[in-house]
Amino acid sequence: MAFGRGKVILLGEHGVVFGHPALATGIERGVTASAERAEADRLEIEPWGVALGPDAEDDEPLARAFAAVLSLYPGPRSPLRVRARVELPGGAGLGCSAALGVAVMGALDEALGVTRDADALGRESLAWERVFHGNPSGVDNAVSAAGGVVLFRRGEPLTAVSARRPLPLVVADSGEPSSTKTMVSGVARRREREPERVDGVFEAIAALVHNGRLAVEAGALGDLGQLMDVNHALLSTLLLSTTRLEDLVGVARDAGALGAKLTGAGGGGCMVALAADPDGAARVREALERAGAHAFVAEAR
Ligand code: MEV
Repeated sequence: MAFGRGKVILLGEHGVVFGHPALATGIERGVTASAERAEADRLEIEPWGVALGPDAEDDEPLARAFAAVLSLYPGPRSPLRVRARVELPGGAGLGCSAALGVAVMGALDEALGVTRDADALGRESLAWERVFHGNPSGVDNAVSAAGGVVLFRRGEPLTAVSARRPLPLVVADSGEPSSTKTMVSGVARRREREPERVDGVFEAIAALVHNGRLAVEAGALGDLGQLMDVNHALLSTLLLSTTRLEDLVGVARDAGALGAKLTGAGGGGCMVALAADPDGAARVREALERAGAHAFVAEAR
């Protein structure tokens, strides 16, 4: 059974597309997948009720993504039926599509006896991700394959970050669907119009990422929380937040979170809050649920 973790970006989304660093962590929720010999290549995804066989339409992105990954296995092979189970909301900033790509490729590797380390799995499963997100930085796939708290910079191997204390994270879904592709291309257009301002924001976020790494290594959760708050404010200046995300970030802070921010592409999707300890995380989760959001405590994995 192969597993692709979901991920939470603690600091640094969007800047990471343009070569700046990001601090992210894998979470325990993700996608599991297995593959077995069959009469024809086939992809099934639960609980979405997706079943794509050889007659799938070419304009079906999941079929194109599956074909893109299968094309990475050259030479004769038996047809394979891949069954995946998704435990993450899609289009919500938790790296669902990357986790699916990593899990599917991991399942194909297992069935075909291919060995590949986590770095290679993260990099090569980008063939899947590119179908959905025109210009992915690769952070979602890299974290999904490797897990743990990591510092990522586009085109470079991951740096594992050793967390001195566990990170009690709470994730809440705004319920507003968002498209990473649309949000990333919107930021790129804004950067063309206002290069100095947008690059200035990304440089400020990169400084937060470097300090965030130090805070994680030192177990300084209060500092990390403050950096998350500042990161959220900077992302808001790029119009990546929404009224609902602002409400949820405020609810988390009022319930005692050390910091809270949107996570992923923004424009909807999820927010993440950092609590001081597990009891604090439970209180933040309850407050977010009372505010009508689906929320869960996430273990950094
Ligand atoms: C999406 O999880 C994070 C973004 O920075 C896009 C990317 O890195 O590809 C918004």
